[in-house]
Amino acid sequence: MSVKGLLNVARTFLFLALETFVRPRWAYYRTRAFYYRYYKNRFHKNRVAEYQSNIEAIDAAIALITNSTAEEVAEFGRSEILEKMRVHEEWVVAISDEDSDGDNEGPIEFFYGPSPQLMRAVHIVCRLLKPEVVIETGVAKGFTSAAMLDALERNGMGELYSIEMPSLYIGYTRQVGEKIPQSLRTRWHLELGPSAIVLPRLLKKLGSVDVFLYDSASSYDNQLGDLCTILASMRPGGVLISNLLITDAFIEATESFSCKWIAVEQTKPTPIGLIAKLD
Ligand SMILES: C[S@@+](CC[C@H](N)C(=O)[O-])C[C@H]1O[C@@H](n2cnc3c(N)ncnc32)[C@H](O)[C@@H]1O
Repeated sequence: MSVKGLLNVARTFLFLALETFVRPRWAYYRTRAFYYRYYKNRFHKNRVAEYQSNIEAIDAAIALITNSTAEEVAEFGRSEILEKMRVHEEWVVAISDEDSDGDNEGPIEFFYGPSPQLMRAVHIVCRLLKPEVVIETGVAKGFTSAAMLDALERNGMGELYSIEMPSLYIGYTRQVGEKIPQSLRTRWHLELGPSAIVLPRLLKKLGSVDVFLYDSASSYDNQLGDLCTILASMRPGGVLISNLLITDAFIEATESFSCKWIAVEQTKPTPIGLIAKLD
């Protein structure tokens, strides 16, 4: 490991130790996510091949999961915000310079950004379903938030509740959501904290959810927990989109509920998953 890498690890441990005193529950979920990401996930990858057995191209998958026609999907896919995305290699790095406040510097790395396929999925699903309540976990600079807020604005209805537990980097919280254009922020509600704590509290207040995006920790246990919590409160006909199909969490979550699912290839190493809640 390089000197820079070692310094990063040392700084993370120091901040984590401090957080244990200030916000012990955040520190607990953060430590748990590290434990799964670097050790425990490997024991929960027995069924990842099943994702490849039910895989579709992005537009076809959206049509299947929302019971829409190819024409409807294509029409909502011709959206200005999707055209304004600038893509660096396979990741989205900017909506467009004039629309967003942020630059590409700072602690939030650009590789945290979503793929163009994920942007397309969240935007088109929100256009097709005309949801009242949309929730996402994992905000970072806010690319997916902007894509969904743009859809809600065009629908003329709906609110987006975004949950983010900022990483332990100085200046991270300040950058959260910075790519969301000011004009789209009236329907946006940001909650800071671990999704395992914030989601149940939010669902108690909102009652049910129509569209959900999981784009946060790559930990089996956190993903399974969030997906099951959401599916239990999702209205029939609602759609769940999950990035990071790197463990069995997604397929296990689908088995506890009446739903259909499909995986989508993206320009990132692991697929995206889509779930339609049936009843
Ligand atoms: C891949 S990035 C999200 C990218 C974002 N959707 C976008 O479009 O730019 C993942 C984010 O999830 C956050 N995160 C990680 N664990 C979390 C948790 N347990 N609860 C909420 N947010 C979490 C990270 O801090 C990070 O900002």
